Amino acid sequence: MDPILIHVPDTLVTSRLLLERHLPDTGKDLYAAAAASQPELAQYLDWAVDGIFLEQVESHVRRQSAQFTLRNELNYRILKRSDGSTIGVTGFVKCQWDIRQFEIGYWLATAETGNGYMTEACNALLETARTALQSTKLILRCDTRNVQSANIALRLGFELEGTHRRFRRDAHGAWTDIATYGLLT
Ligand SMILES: CC(C)(COP(=O)(O)OP(=O)(O)OC[C@H]1O[C@@H](n2cnc3c(N)ncnc32)[C@H](O)[C@@H]1OP(=O)(O)O)[C@@H](O)C(=O)NCCC(=O)NCCS
Repeated sequence: MDPILIHVPDTLVTSRLLLERHLPDTGKDLYAAAAASQPELAQYLDWAVDGIFLEQVESHVRRQSAQFTLRNELNYRILKRSDGSTIGVTGFVKCQWDIRQFEIGYWLATAETGNGYMTEACNALLETARTALQSTKLILRCDTRNVQSANIALRLGFELEGTHRRFRRDAHGAWTDIATYGLLT
């Protein structure tokens, strides 16, 4: 089936969070969360290394809105239901529709870490993957130095499948080892 015909929910609701697909004009809220967390995001996300700028974030959410419609990437802004604030992003950053395998990516505002929000958001993604996407397998990849990210994978039941040594150079030119975690769904 053409993936564009597959129904994917625009919003996901958990006990504490609302996940909403990226939409035009939401860049300002996302920018506030990302800009305040730039040093921590830049440790593992290349796009944050040279600074985070409002115009770029708005361009990004508009592109992501289109990608969602095309079913190329399915990313959601994460909001706290208690006060409506934007605290991060998660979603399926790579979609292999032919074999129904999807890779999850995420980031969280530094001030909101340590509360289990990302694990809660990813659990909603897992449910969506199993139902709406009819996934066969989910994948999570992270720098082997990124213990917090690896902990999320393990909490969700993913298993370490292997480590690619010297997989890439990071934004500072240092070699990076990448661990791949998988979950058969
Ligand atoms: C990776 C990242 C999202 C992890 O954030 P996090 O807050 O550690 O993850 P969670 O929101 O799931 O919270 C888990 C933490 O909250 C604690 N926690 C508190 N209440 C919890 C609850 N109800 N449920 C689960 N965990 C809870 C857990 O014990 C855990 O803390 P610990 O690891 O110190 O034991 C965040 O560090 C980040 O955005 N980093 C920068 C960007 C990045 O690295 N992205 C990933 C690239 S692969």
